[in-house]
Amino acid sequence: MATKKIICAATNNENKLKEIREILNGVDVQPSSYFTRDFYVEETGNSFCENAYLKAKHLSIYADIVIADDSGLEVFALNNEPGIFSSRYSKEGTDRSNVEKLLKAMENIIDRRARFTCCIVAIINGETVQKEGFIYGTIKDHPAGNNGFGYDPVFIPNGYEKTFAEMKKEVKNSISHRKNALELLKKELIMRGLI
Ligand code: IMP
Repeated sequence: MATKKIICAATNNENKLKEIREILNGVDVQPSSYFTRDFYVEETGNSFCENAYLKAKHLSIYADIVIADDSGLEVFALNNEPGIFSSRYSKEGTDRSNVEKLLKAMENIIDRRARFTCCIVAIINGETVQKEGFIYGTIKDHPAGNNGFGYDPVFIPNGYEKTFAEMKKEVKNSISHRKNALELLKKELIMRGLI
């Protein structure tokens, strides 16, 4: 019989929390603010997983299970940039200026292939578990759509004709890098009898 545990999600982002709760349905998932006010972690890692680990580790004193994610866009023709610097790619660091910088960098690039990556790190009673999810696609040459955030207006997932920003949130969330990573984590938590 699985023991019911409160999972601490190292985020205070309502959308992420909702997505995590939807996928881990029935599990008591609480944001970091439920456990502490002290949640500022400098993302000094060299990979998505290292940054996710730093966030999870910071909160691991507060709960038996802590999960943290880090994600971003990797463009193959740009040596996987912006990567871990996705949110701070341009000087201003806004979604708009990041997308503008990306489109400029890709002006003469024919190979438009890219992927979103999400690494989720769970610290379970001191043990670290790490799961990565991906969604592959291409970068459009101009922004389209108003939904979502970040690079959604220029990312077209393979098998679709619309950008993430032109899709309904439910459709994006059913195929996203975060969804894929969370599903893998869910399997692991079930296998361990934790949920
Ligand atoms: P974080 O891991 O949620 O902090 O995301 C880091 C950055 O990666 C965001 O600020 C976005 O620029 C980019 N990013 C991550 N996931 C997505 C997504 O689903 N759509 C668009 N941009 C994303």
